[in-house]
Amino acid sequence: METTPQTRAAFSIKPADRMTVLPTQFFANLVRKANEQITLGHDVINLGQGNPDRPTPPHIVQSLQESAADPAYHRYPPFSGFAFLKEAIAYRYKEDYGVTLDPETEVAILFGGKTGLVEISQCLLNPGDVCLVPDPGYPDYWSGVALAGAEMAFMPLREENRFLPDYSELSETDLKRAKLMFVNYPNNPTAVAAPASFYEETIAFAEKHGIVVASDFAYGAIGFDGQKPVSFLQQPGAKEVGIEFYTLSKTYNMAGWRVGFALGNREIVRLINLMQDHYYCSLFGGIQAAAATALTGPQDCVDELRRVYESRRNALFGALARIGWNARPSEGSFFSWLPVPKGHTSSSLADLLLQETKVVVAPGIGFGMNGEGYVRLGLLSTEARLEEAVERIGKLNLFG
Ligand SMILES: Cc1ncc(COP(=O)(O)O)c(C=O)c1O
Repeated sequence: METTPQTRAAFSIKPADRMTVLPTQFFANLVRKANEQITLGHDVINLGQGNPDRPTPPHIVQSLQESAADPAYHRYPPFSGFAFLKEAIAYRYKEDYGVTLDPETEVAILFGGKTGLVEISQCLLNPGDVCLVPDPGYPDYWSGVALAGAEMAFMPLREENRFLPDYSELSETDLKRAKLMFVNYPNNPTAVAAPASFYEETIAFAEKHGIVVASDFAYGAIGFDGQKPVSFLQQPGAKEVGIEFYTLSKTYNMAGWRVGFALGNREIVRLINLMQDHYYCSLFGGIQAAAATALTGPQDCVDELRRVYESRRNALFGALARIGWNARPSEGSFFSWLPVPKGHTSSSLADLLLQETKVVVAPGIGFGMNGEGYVRLGLLSTEARLEEAVERIGKLNLFG
C-alpha cells in the first residue's frame, strides 16, 4: 500500500543539544523593530549596527574583477589558502607593527574574523573549561564558547578603569578552570584603545594562569587623535601565549568579502587550520588575490578612511555637546558609547529614540550586564545624518 501524507507518522526534527545552548541573537530584535519603522515609511537613521557604509576601494575591486577571470582560481584553492595571501598579511604586519610572522606556520586564513573567534573556542575548550570574556563585549565570543559546551566568566569593563579589565577581580575558582580569554582593543562597544602596558600585563597574567589570549584586533586600523592602535603581537612573549585576529572588513571596507586572519602562536594556527580542513576548502582564490592587493597595495585609502571616521566622530560629539549629552569621545573603532540619561535603561532609551525620533541605537545590555546604562552609536552615516540624528534626539529634552 502506498503511504500517503495522512498515513505517515508525524516526523519531527530534533536539534542537537548544542543548537539549544546557542545564545539568543539580541540584535535581531533591534533590526526587526527598525525595519518595521522603515516599512511604515519613516526616515530612519540607523546608528545601531556595525556595517561599514563606504565602498571597497576601486583598486581592490578591480583586482577581484581581473582575478575572477583567471582560470587558475576556478579550481579548488589549497586547503589552508594561497601562500601569497599569507605572505601579504605577514608583509602588512611587518610594515605597520614591526611584527615578524612566518607566513606558513604563524598565519591562518579565515572566512572573516567572526569564524576564527568561534573556531578558537572549539579548538581549545572542553565542557567544564572556562573562557574569560569582556563585559560589555562582542557577542560572537559567547557563540563559540556555547558551541564548545564550555562556560564563560565575565571580565567587567568599567568606565572608571578606562574600560580595561581588572584581572585582580577574577575569582580563583574561575582562574583555575580558565583556558582562554578574549581581549578587544580598539574596543567594540566602548570605543576605547589600549596602551602597550595593558598587553604586557595581559601576557604576564596569561603566563601565570596558563590562559591562551585571543586578541581581537578588528578595529586595529582605526585609531583617532594621532594614536595608532597597538597590536598585541608587538609585545614580547605574545606569540607564546596567544593569537591575534585581524580582518579586512573594517580596514578596507570589505565586510562582505569575508577575509580574516588568525596570527601568532603556531600550535593555535595549526589547530585552526586543522579544524578548517574539516569544514572548508579556503576562500575563492579570486578573493584571496584581491585581499593580497589590499594588503600590499597603496594604503592611502586606509588613512583616508580613518580621517572620515575621525571627522564623523568630531561632528557627532560636537552635536552631542550642543544638546548636553556628555560622553567620553571615542578613541578608536567606528563606535561611540554614550551613558543613558537618568530614569532610563539602555533598552527603554533605545525604544524611545526609535519611536519618537526614528533613530536606531544599540542598547548596551545587548553586549552584557555591564553594558547596561549605555547605548552604542555607530559612526557609519555621513556627518550631516549624524548631526541630524542628534538634533532629533535633542528635541526630547532628555539632558537637563
Ligand atoms: C569586535 C569585532 N570583532 C570581530 C568582528 C568580525 O568581523 P568580520 O567577521 O567581518 O571579520 C567584528 C565585526 O563587527 C567586531 O565588531
